[in-house]
Formats: sequence, structure tokens, C-alpha cells
Amino acid sequence: MKRVALIGATGSIGRQALEIVAAHPGLQLVAAASGSTPIDGLAPLTQTGGDPTELLERAEPDVVLNAVVGFAGLPVTLWALERGVDLALANKESLVAAGELALAAQERGGGRLLPVDSEHSAAFQCMESRTDDQVDSLVLTASGGPFRGRSRDDLEDVTPEEALAHPTWSMGPKITIDSATLANKGLELIEAHFLFGLPYERIEVVVHPTSIVHALVRFRDGATLAHLGYPDMRVPISYALTYPERAATPVPPLDLASGVTLEFHAPDLATFPMLPLARTAGERGGTYPCTYNAANEVAVAAFLEGRLPFLGIAPAVEETLAAVDGAPARDLDDLTAADEEARRLTEKGAAVA
Ligand SMILES: NC(=O)c1ccc[n+]([C@@H]2O[C@H](COP(=O)([O-])OP(=O)(O)OC[C@H]3O[C@@H](n4cnc5c(N)ncnc54)[C@H](OP(=O)(O)O)[C@@H]3O)[C@@H](O)[C@H]2O)c1
Repeated sequence: MKRVALIGATGSIGRQALEIVAAHPGLQLVAAASGSTPIDGLAPLTQTGGDPTELLERAEPDVVLNAVVGFAGLPVTLWALERGVDLALANKESLVAAGELALAAQERGGGRLLPVDSEHSAAFQCMESRTDDQVDSLVLTASGGPFRGRSRDDLEDVTPEEALAHPTWSMGPKITIDSATLANKGLELIEAHFLFGLPYERIEVVVHPTSIVHALVRFRDGATLAHLGYPDMRVPISYALTYPERAATPVPPLDLASGVTLEFHAPDLATFPMLPLARTAGERGGTYPCTYNAANEVAVAAFLEGRLPFLGIAPAVEETLAAVDGAPARDLDDLTAADEEARRLTEKGAAVA
């Protein structure tokens, strides 16, 4: 029996994780946490708001699913990695913002980091049991979001409602807006760099509108392995929670004869500058990825609240990145300071935009 702690239990990932846990006799939900939605009775131990690591201390889980949205998920990521508890990671923002600190915590604690992001779960599976020198490069796929194929002019007046209508995935509001700007793929690029130890020039992003191929790994002998399946987060959630068992899920096997199309295009970097901004922030390193993430969180919230136009998101993030020194964080205090500075700068910019 695997003891599961689910942090972020009321969100899109959290609800799907509850379904997976309920259906699997080998998984036992011992603790659940949310940010503000009451969840009394959902698990033997529950918490709403406050520091979820206090709950984790009491719960003694075998695996923690971090399904919190945003930088707020960082304490959960560090707690699991530091203690050698398996971490099923949906909360990409924590690894983007604190990549080096998280990997150092994992080095000390020895816990497994099992990606839940579908592209990273796919890449993890393609790379499993291969050595680093066999891998040539990684390809992450992007659906392109609701505005794929549009020009900058077409995006002038888009509303939050239009941006929230994702063509292939049903997700929480923040990641859905990130998918519309391609910031989500930018965050995933940085996440992949830390998860797989690949330099940025060996990680490519391609647009694949039907979201059937989740990632591809090219090997030095000319072979490329791809991971295919219907876009359904229950698959990577189940894979991470039941690893290495690969338990059954209700998701049907892929029916290729029913007209599955596999198209790939280069992303439109001029219309969607959040993707190249992430690449540059990642390559510059230090606290630039943390700044990118924090500025994006503030800009997305401002867009959803009607305080910033859709096309204002990337300039707000770019201006904040230009205003910071990006010095590496020696510890969590440094990182928190970088995160707070980026939020302050972006908030100020969004207020005048
Ligand atoms: N949704 C997807 O399909 C998908 C796919 C890949 C990766 N991800 C990643 O998974 C994460 C969650 O995404 P989501 O779409 O599930 O978001 P979501 O639907 O907005 O849910 C966020 C969850 O986080 C909780 N939360 C927020 N602040 C918290 C805090 N301080 N302490 C504890 N819980 C807190 C929320 O609780 P309340 O309900 O109380 O606010 C909610 O349960 C994100 O990092 C996202 O990028 C999501």
C-alpha cells in the first residue's frame, strides 16, 4: 500500500488524482490540502491554507503529488526532495523557479522526481534506462493553444474567456492562459532542462495541434522514440503515482485507424514571445527563470482581472527580466527575495500599462 499525500486536491490535477487513487487498491490517500476551498473529510488528514509541509510531516507519505499552482508549490517540492520522499510533480513553477535548489535538495534527500506534466512524463518514459550519452535531443510538443495560427493583430482585443477556451486540454485557469501565450511551453522548456540535465540547445519545441504525441527523444544512432496517447492527464498522474507499476486507467488505447493526424510545425516565436523569453531566461540561468515565472504569474493574474491586455503579458515579463540582475540564489531566502522583487516590478508595470 502506497501512502499518498495530495497537495492542491481541489484543482484540475487534484480532482483527477482523486479519481486515480480511488480506483487503485494499492494507493491510500493519507493527506490532502487546498489553498482556500474547504476539504474536510476528503482524507484522514486535511488542511486548507497555511503551510502544507506541516501536514506532510504528520502524514508520513510514500509519495507526494504536488498539484498546487504557481510558486506557492515550492515548499512542498523542497520538503519531498529533501526528505527522500517520492515527488510526483505537476507544479512545474517550483522546478522552474528553484531548479538548482531543488536538485541540490534531491541530491541530499535521494528522493525520486516523477514528472506529471504530460510532456515530461512522456520524455521520462522514452529516456528510461538510457544513458545520458545515448540521448541526442528532446522534443516537447505544444498544441499551440486557442490562438494558434493567429497574427499579433488578431490578438489585440482577445478576452480572458477566449484565452480560456483551450482546444485539446481542460485545465486550471493559470496554465490555460500560459498555453495561450506559449509561456506554458516556456516553463516546460526550463522544467525539462532541470529534469533531464539537457542544455537548452538540445531541447526543441514543436507545435503539434492534436496533442497526441507528448514528447519525442532523438538518440545518437538516428532513432527517435515518441510517446503517444490521447490528451488525458489521468495517464501521467497514474504513471507517477503507481510508478513503476504502470497501472491500468480508464483511458482507451490509441485508435490509429480512426483518423489520428500527426502534424508538426515550428512555433511562431514573433507572435508568441513568451517562448523565446523563457529560453533566454533559462540560458542566462541564475534567478532569471524565477523572475520569468514570478513576472508571468503577476501578468496572467492582471490579464484575468482585466487590468492588462493579452498582448501586454509578454512586454510586462520582458521589462521585469530587463530590470533585475538575475544573480544566482544561494539559498531559499535569496530565491524568495528574487521572486518578490519580480512580483513588485511587474505589478508596478501592469498598473501603468
Ligand atoms: N491542469 C492540467 O491539466 C495540468 C497539466 C500539466 C501540469 N499542470 C500543472 O499542475 C499545477 C496545478 O494545475 P491545475 O490546472 O490543477 O490548477 P488549478 O485547477 O488552478 O488548481 C490549483 C490547486 O492548487 C491549490 N492551491 C493554491 N494555492 C495553494 C496553497 N498555497 N497551498 C495548497 N494548495 C494551494 C488550489 O486550492 P483552492 O481550490 O483552495 O484554490 C487548487 O487545489 C500547475 O502547476 C500546472 O502548471 C496542470
